Amino acid sequence: MRTRCFSLLLALTLACSGGETSESGSGGEPTSGGEATGGGEATGGGEAENGHAPGGTHGRHHHGHHGQGHDHDFSDVERFARIFDDPERDSWQKPDHVVSLLDLAPGQTVVDLGAGTGYFLSRLSAAVGPEGRVLALDVEPNMVRHMEARIAEEELANAEARVVPTDDPQLEPAGADAILIVDTWHHVAEREAYAAKLFAGLRPGGSVFIVDFTREAPHGPPAEMRLTAAEVSEELAAAGFEIATLDEELPHQYVVRATRPAAPGSEETP
Ligand SMILES: C[S@@+](CC[C@H](N)C(=O)[O-])C[C@H]1O[C@@H](n2cnc3c(N)ncnc32)[C@H](O)[C@@H]1O
Repeated sequence: MRTRCFSLLLALTLACSGGETSESGSGGEPTSGGEATGGGEATGGGEAENGHAPGGTHGRHHHGHHGQGHDHDFSDVERFARIFDDPERDSWQKPDHVVSLLDLAPGQTVVDLGAGTGYFLSRLSAAVGPEGRVLALDVEPNMVRHMEARIAEEELANAEARVVPTDDPQLEPAGADAILIVDTWHHVAEREAYAAKLFAGLRPGGSVFIVDFTREAPHGPPAEMRLTAAEVSEELAAAGFEIATLDEELPHQYVVRATRPAAPGSEETP
């Protein structure tokens, strides 16, 4: 039971969408017509959905509409590390599977945008190999410091963590082969403009992969805060990406792949 409840907390926390609604329950958000119920699985977007662990104080969080992001305080890294890096997360997040969807090759450059505590870093690092490069980007300096320590401890020589502004991933033009964005896209403000910056940072034929909770998922952000795969696709298509919703085996999340079209006559493929 304890494990299932923690799994619930973890899933909800990772959804981490914002809300200006009143707080309720054990330090949490109102749910999307639901509540964190018994049975271990959550309904709606329960307490930790906003990146709130039990008993913790809430930081800033603002929910915007029409492309505005959900602003949260992720500065308490120790607390988030316990949640994001709980081994139980692997059972539904399936990190090996997620990384396999990127179809990375040795020597490539992969970006993890909103990398948090660095949950995906070791897998990404292995996928691109010693000649490749992993850029772990986050707006929260404490997260980046945490990732720097993790990179050193895990000896991920091809990985680098950087602080980026909320409105710009500061990518080199056409420098990335793939960009992974897990449970973070809804935090980004002015997403269509941001998508254009991702487009510019990808090589032709390169792809951004957005992983987030489905509307049908038994847990996740409150309904009005969730972004559907269709909405995400529309935002990315507006920036010129070619969209595919991938068949995958995640129980509660979708994966949208958005590919910068290859140059005419090029053999580059996603
Ligand atoms: C829920 S966490 C997800 C962490 C990680 N992707 C994972 O799956 O474990 C969201 C992260 O996105 C970061 N973030 C929020 N807005 C961002 C933005 N505009 N650019 C980059 N990172 C952002 C937060 O600081 C936080 O670390």
